[in-house]
Amino acid sequence: MKRIFSGVQPTGNLHLGNYLGAIRNFVRLQDDYECIFCVVDMHAITVWQDPKQLIDNTREVAASYLAAGVDPEKHIIFNQSQVSAHAELGWIFNCVSRIGWLNRMTQFKDKAGKNREKASTGLYVYPNLMAADILAYKATHVPVGEDQKQHLELTRDIAIKFNNDFNVDLFPVPEPLIFGAATRIMSLRDGSKKMSKSDPSDYSRITMMDDADTVAKKIKKATSDPHLIPGAEVLDENGKLLDDARKERPEAFNLLSIYAALNDKELVDVLGEFEGKGFADFKKSLTEVAVTKLGPMGSEMKRLMDDKSYVDSVLKQGADRAAKLAEPVMKEVFDAVGFLRP
Ligand code: TYM
Repeated sequence: MKRIFSGVQPTGNLHLGNYLGAIRNFVRLQDDYECIFCVVDMHAITVWQDPKQLIDNTREVAASYLAAGVDPEKHIIFNQSQVSAHAELGWIFNCVSRIGWLNRMTQFKDKAGKNREKASTGLYVYPNLMAADILAYKATHVPVGEDQKQHLELTRDIAIKFNNDFNVDLFPVPEPLIFGAATRIMSLRDGSKKMSKSDPSDYSRITMMDDADTVAKKIKKATSDPHLIPGAEVLDENGKLLDDARKERPEAFNLLSIYAALNDKELVDVLGEFEGKGFADFKKSLTEVAVTKLGPMGSEMKRLMDDKSYVDSVLKQGADRAAKLAEPVMKEVFDAVGFLRP
């Protein structure tokens, strides 16, 4: 059985990276897999969240799944905190995972920043909870953007170590699914930084709910460079951008990759289309496709966020179904660990 699990944190400002790197791929996979899409509110509180805002943001992520086209009848959409298996298995994995493994996690280092002593312990063990999310359902495949690759490797290590420690064949070793022309979208202002929900500058990201004027303004202000768009000489034989080319012109290739992803094209075709042109011309085409693709989805998200009772009912129903799937897995886990449950 092929089962997908993936999640997005409800921390506001859902952006193009979340859409192209993850949510759009969820929609594409739903015909071939049984899917569980989670709004990971327990992950969100590893850094401070205003409680009222967290509720709104939880509905925002659920609305993005629905507006992008996930079918809530066929698949499961729910928020993490409604299903206790996540916390239960997360704890057990805190005892399986190793401090040395967590010390290597680059996302913790980035998020905790210089003042690591002040970071929550939740932020530190976050990857163990992520492993629990996936393995509580014995998910086999996990669609994510490139920035989650290291966490997925840790999930695989935890699955293997649990199976070995308890001499069972309980957990599958899940595969990451990282695909599309935009697995790592960079900030529109600084091509060395990833596009993120927490960047203080609104101009660093296009959000899933930006209106047409805002999208146009952000693309106009996006950092590019004065050089012309190159041809296919910047690609290797597999059509992949050469590292040196990306390093030299990170902003330029970020915008070109976004255009490719929005149009469902390969970078080689985009270079063919724009070779020798400047960024002023290119940005007009980019704005056009961004507005066409994101506009209707953003409006639908807004409509859904006003229809709170519908979104809440999807989350409740999804949680009931998710809990049923996790229950037999947790029973096996408790038996394996030796938890007496008379
Ligand atoms: P989060 O909420 O940061 O991001 C959600 C998804 O969006 C992808 N993404 C990007 N893709 C391309 N370019 C970007 N700039 C970009 N920024 C974000 C992320 O890779 C992710 O797929 N730890 C996860 C949430 C999580 C999870 C899970 C995911 C918790 N449990 C279990 C999968 C399975 C996170 O913080 O994603």
